[in-house]
Amino acid sequence: MKFNLEDKELIRSCRPILDRLYKDHKKKYIDLFFYEKDILFTKFDITPLIKTKIIRELKGKFRANVQVFPLSGKFICTDFNYSTHRKIGKTYTTQRDGVWGILPEETPVMAKKTIVKKGDVVLDLATGSGMIGIFCAEKAKKVIATDINPRAINYAKFNSILNGVDHKMEFRVGNLFNPVKGIKFDLVVWNGPTVAVPETPEKYPVYSYGGMDGAEFTRKFIDSVFDYLKPNGRLQWYDCSVGTEKIPVSMEYLKRKWKDKEVKAIFNSLTLDPVSLEKSFKVYSKVNLENPKIKTPLSVKTVTKNEEGRWHNWLKERGYTHFYYAFVQVNPSDKFEFKMNFPKKDIRTDRYLTRYWLWMSYQTILKKLEFCEWL
Ligand SMILES: C[S@@+](CC[C@H](N)C(=O)[O-])C[C@H]1O[C@@H](n2cnc3c(N)ncnc32)[C@H](O)[C@@H]1O
Repeated sequence: MKFNLEDKELIRSCRPILDRLYKDHKKKYIDLFFYEKDILFTKFDITPLIKTKIIRELKGKFRANVQVFPLSGKFICTDFNYSTHRKIGKTYTTQRDGVWGILPEETPVMAKKTIVKKGDVVLDLATGSGMIGIFCAEKAKKVIATDINPRAINYAKFNSILNGVDHKMEFRVGNLFNPVKGIKFDLVVWNGPTVAVPETPEKYPVYSYGGMDGAEFTRKFIDSVFDYLKPNGRLQWYDCSVGTEKIPVSMEYLKRKWKDKEVKAIFNSLTLDPVSLEKSFKVYSKVNLENPKIKTPLSVKTVTKNEEGRWHNWLKERGYTHFYYAFVQVNPSDKFEFKMNFPKKDIRTDRYLTRYWLWMSYQTILKKLEFCEWL
């Protein structure tokens, strides 16, 4: 799927249709954009949705080409992470260059809670569908959004037009900071690839591969971000990596590298406690490990038991016993400060990895959407 971006008026005209569909016909909306069901439309003029390829006609009914996440009057198109129609076997994880779908406790929380200030020049690194940058663009003077995946940039551009903020946004394709060399920002935000996995990068979609400890991308970010930050600049990112019972490897690295910087870094955990690796491995194995009973599409490569075993040993040898999920916020200060906060109850749980939208009940999806609305 590639969006044609030429007719901006046409793209913009889709938002009121999506809005009416979502507000007045929630069931149809969820059936169409979360369950990928074929839907009959009689009262709506949905021609713009068809012309832009958000949906397509199939024997008199309509099917979504993309998942469309509604959030506070905005609509964000992504690929479906799992699909009933494109599956060959029982489960289907998206292609290597898939555009990351929305997990309610990640991107929307970040999008709605960004520490963006009026007039900021913002960098949304690894933008994916563009959701975080699009929400920043309301207050910011300008947002530059980058991603290594050209398909993601095509979706992000489309979403910025759909939500009427394209005049404030610029999009660039490339690795990490390469596309913004020489530019300084007031705020850098990101939710990048931070999934800890065996050392088999070719087996993972670009949106997820974070190296064996999940912190490969984060370390590179920590090494270079100050070259792209104005003197009183701020940072905010989704942090996920393995660690000991006390601290994730990402934060250990940050403390070592930034000990002389005048910043206050706060690690706001999304889980009540660090999550035991044993618990996470169970989820991981279900999704990624080769399973003779499940036929996966050719584009999806499963991990072998040997590869997984090597990874487990690697983690064990280093004393890594836990997973951490958090939002990190960095503000200017007169000395280096570091703090880790844990919430009173879990905000994020792993079950979404296996029981994504298609596996959720209609009521659960509604609750998730409401959770984002009331943040
Ligand atoms: C988990 S997805 C999140 C996307 C988006 N930020 C969000 O919150 O929905 C991670 C994103 O990082 C991008 N990415 C992976 N490696 C990258 C790199 N080296 N440089 C820039 N972007 C990268 C992927 O293409 C993907 O869009």
